[in-house]
Amino acid sequence: MTTLVVGSQWGDEGKGKIVDYLSSKSDFVVRFHGGNNAGHTVINQYGKFPMHLIPCGIFNPKIKAIIANGVILDLDVLVSEIENLEKAGINFKNRLYISPRCHLIMPYHKILDKLYEEAKGKAKTGTTGRGIGPTYSDKVSYNGIRIIDLLDSKLFREKLKIQLSIKNRIISALGEKALNEKEIFEKFLVYKKKIHPFIKEPYPLIENALKGKKTILLEGAHGVFLDNDWGTYPFVTASTVLTGGVTAGAGIPSKQVDSIVGVVKAYTTRVGAGPFPTELFDGDGEKLRRTGFEFGTTTGRPRRCGWFDAELIRFASRINGYTGIAITKLDVLDGFKTIKICTSYTNSGKKVRYFDGDAKFLSNVKPVYKTLKGWSKPVKGIKKYSDLPKEAKNYLKEIEKQVKTKIQFVSTGSDRNEIIKA
Ligand code: GDP
Ligand code: IMO
Ligand code: MG
Repeated sequence: MTTLVVGSQWGDEGKGKIVDYLSSKSDFVVRFHGGNNAGHTVINQYGKFPMHLIPCGIFNPKIKAIIANGVILDLDVLVSEIENLEKAGINFKNRLYISPRCHLIMPYHKILDKLYEEAKGKAKTGTTGRGIGPTYSDKVSYNGIRIIDLLDSKLFREKLKIQLSIKNRIISALGEKALNEKEIFEKFLVYKKKIHPFIKEPYPLIENALKGKKTILLEGAHGVFLDNDWGTYPFVTASTVLTGGVTAGAGIPSKQVDSIVGVVKAYTTRVGAGPFPTELFDGDGEKLRRTGFEFGTTTGRPRRCGWFDAELIRFASRINGYTGIAITKLDVLDGFKTIKICTSYTNSGKKVRYFDGDAKFLSNVKPVYKTLKGWSKPVKGIKKYSDLPKEAKNYLKEIEKQVKTKIQFVSTGSDRNEIIKA
């Protein structure tokens, strides 16, 4: 059984919580794209962890965690994450595998990310500043440096030299200080020592797991509308967020993914720039941000908040082939007298769809809302569907009807146990 968890909006839907919950029944947990622009929060008996690179399922002591080839790695962040988890009592021995094919986020990628954003001025994407775009662009233009290169110090230094000869010219031209080859080289030798025990080609493990009917949990990062092709370009991230990314990113044939769970926040949020049709600029938006503690796990930036957008989720479900969805943060809607759902969009009075245009087009659509009654009894911490107030059940039923996909889980709090299996 292979289950894929996909973020369905603009990230931060609560994927970490759902992956941690599902990991208790999994043999393998796999990250297959993105880098430490991801920030997945896990809250369980070990504490609270903002996870950036290590798969969230690692807390299941029996699981094997794989950072597959599609992930790009900032070794500084990876090493600190390993050390923090070790301090919290998590044992990695024979449980963490890092693909030698993973590309490295180099110091110049982070500087270039910042410089490109600055150069774009008001048109900037609002990236996390983690060097994601520049690293993936080097990957596809054959300028990347991989973990496998780092294993061969001589080759690594040669590649570093060539890249610095290009990157330092751009960096200097854009007004920043050129980087020193020796300093970077020596730093990376230290990282190599720390991660060396975990580097191993994971393909045979995955191949055997698929043959041996083991349970694999794939942890998607970001969200569908940040997908490089189908998101709100150029306000997107650099990787493929959609279901199809599992073959390139982890060597898993898409037809062997049995279950695809879209994680959907009970309202909508977005960090960074870009269109957001249901964004709220009033007290309701402020209330969602405050109650939902909507501040970025990676950058701490306040998240933009708005009502649930069924047009987006309908599209996300279709394009990914969701077998079910997990609704998160339903408890954040506790105390709202009325709650709105965007059922469709119009533009100049005509009904339009998400995919009809680009980011500029989307910033001009008008959401059509349906207003539902809120609930007075809190849903926070409820674990049984039958215990939900009737208005909360109606809200969930309306979502199911609008997005034409079955709700499989409802999360009613940030803790692992605050969940309803519908
Ligand atoms: P991810 O990137 O999709 O893993 O999501 P983040 O961890 O960045 O953001 C989700 C935030 O919501 C985290 O702070 C979680 O602890 C929290 N969270 C997850 N599920 C729930 C829930 O059902 N209710 C509440 N109140 N918080 C939740
Ligand atoms: P998780 O996995 C929220 C957004 C950034 C920015 C755009 C491009 O925690 O859901 P990048 O640094 O990737 O080049 O930034 O994408 N972004 C996210 N927003 N959650 C994430 O990950 C994100 N990953 C990228 O805010 O708008
Ligand atoms: Mg996040």
